[in-house]
Amino acid sequence: MQTKRIVIAHLSLCRGCCCGAVEKGNPNVPVEWMKDEWKKRGLKKSIQLTISGCLGPCDLHNVASISSAEQTMWLGRLREFSSYAALLEWALASRDAGQALPLPSELNELRYETAVAREFARRGMEDYRWLRSDASDPERADPVAAEGRCGWVTPIRQALLHLQQ
Ligand code: FES
Repeated sequence: MQTKRIVIAHLSLCRGCCCGAVEKGNPNVPVEWMKDEWKKRGLKKSIQLTISGCLGPCDLHNVASISSAEQTMWLGRLREFSSYAALLEWALASRDAGQALPLPSELNELRYETAVAREFARRGMEDYRWLRSDASDPERADPVAAEGRCGWVTPIRQALLHLQQ
């Protein structure tokens, strides 16, 4: 299956139960500003912007992820407006370069590692069967179950199991 919608990268900004929940005392996520800038600057065709529900690690609010052909990067504690402005600048520069550029240092400092990324780094892409939930086989036991409280691992697992078929 193919899509005509080929993008350089996909930025997901979490606006779930905790990220951007100012009523809980958490910092705002400037959703409308980002959407307006994305439209005004003509980014929609090259960098996908998605405002998502909970991505999982609520304790690191506010959370974002950036997926490209090379990797998926996770960012947490996006508490300053300047971080969102830096994401916009990164997206514009990546569009102009025709590829997902490395993140600037102020965003790089906000990266965190997920259990999934750790396991991929440790075991390698070839053996993705470890993502299966099979407690009877320690080699295939789910290493992220404890962290998957919001079900954020499920889409990744489903995608990989689909590839396996
Ligand atoms: S609400 Fe953003 S990670 Fe849960």
